[in-house]
Amino acid sequence: RPVSDFRATLTGVIGELQVATALRQTIVIPTFNERDNIETLLRRLVAALPASDSEIVFVDDSTDDTPDVIRRAARTCPIPITVHHRERGAGGLGGAVVEGMRLARGAWIVVLDADLQHPPEIVPDLIAAGLRDGADLVVGTRYAGGGGSDGLDGGYRRFVSGGSTFATKLIFRNSLSRVSDPMSGLFAVRTSSLEVEQLRPLGYKVLLELVVRNRPGRIVEVPYTFQRRHAGESKSTFAEGVRFLKHLAILRFGAERTRMLAFALIGVSGLLPNQLALWFLTQVGVHYLPAAVVANLVAVGWNFALTDTLLYRNRRHRSLGGRMGRFFVMGNVDLLLRIPMLALLVGGAHVGVLAANLITLLTSFVLRFLVLDKVIYRA
Ligand code: GDD
Ligand code: MN
Repeated sequence: RPVSDFRATLTGVIGELQVATALRQTIVIPTFNERDNIETLLRRLVAALPASDSEIVFVDDSTDDTPDVIRRAARTCPIPITVHHRERGAGGLGGAVVEGMRLARGAWIVVLDADLQHPPEIVPDLIAAGLRDGADLVVGTRYAGGGGSDGLDGGYRRFVSGGSTFATKLIFRNSLSRVSDPMSGLFAVRTSSLEVEQLRPLGYKVLLELVVRNRPGRIVEVPYTFQRRHAGESKSTFAEGVRFLKHLAILRFGAERTRMLAFALIGVSGLLPNQLALWFLTQVGVHYLPAAVVANLVAVGWNFALTDTLLYRNRRHRSLGGRMGRFFVMGNVDLLLRIPMLALLVGGAHVGVLAANLITLLTSFVLRFLVLDKVIYRA
């Protein structure tokens, strides 16, 4: 205890020194079509913050005129404002926040939503708590000490939010033991503790990314009540939910093992079209051996469609024909490998047929994944 208290005090002192020499805080605000929230947001931020040692960085992926609205407001705003507009919006909300962190010059970076669901008045409290306790990270929490989520309308959203928070805390119980609201989009981080290059954000949950990958030292929490959205509507979609699951898997297993897992799931899903095709062809009188070959082709086609659109959408360097051709060759070379291997295992080594079949399938699975990942869709 005394040692860690001393460390905390020391970190606190260093923090104060930094504040004396640089900007105290950069407010990073991600925006996606938030034109009608800008004016109120800036008015409330200006009222809450000392203008002399603050800056605001907007990272914008809007398709409307939000950046123009911000630039117009910036002309009369006492706090210096930067707008960074991105055309392709890589990484979604998380990508925008990390981009903002790269541009930030303050000793503290505060991340805040633009729609006023996070009350701007809390920003000084976050930094005060961080300085007081010598923390690297201050999390705005809805789930501890008087925080609340009034703005989460509908039992459904509450259920999803509560459920995913619970599951996430279970999966990352070590990293998240001190964080009651790992999904929070409101937090302050000490810039010197941040290792931006380690972050691989994907979608909404950038705080989770930061806690798991950066492993900040001391973490404290400040309760707040999640408000109703001021104007416009939430940008969170079903696709965002799927992206969150992918994010969880990558954080837990790593990117390559997650791709292998997805490849396995796609492979298993191919059993259904395979069996259906086989059933149909034999029903209409086709002999079962050629039927099995055609059914295999159907399954390979199914697997290709899913792999190409869901798994390697970002790595389509070859032409469609090139990718498809290689994928189908691999699907058939697979048979050339598995049949002799099967004969060898059963005939030569006297392994049981089912066990032998399983071995050939697993071998082929790993080999096919490696060919796919390292050759056909090379990064
Ligand atoms: N630049 C950029 N790019 N900004 C985005 C994008 C994007 O792709 N998607 C959303 N935003 C911005 C919105 O404009 C808003 O300022 C903020 O990110 C939050 O988006 P909302 O769509 O309002 O999210 P929410 O209210 O459902 O959820 C928010 O609050 C939760 C509780 O703190 C998010 O911050 C969640 O991550 C958080 O759990
Ligand atoms: Mn919101």
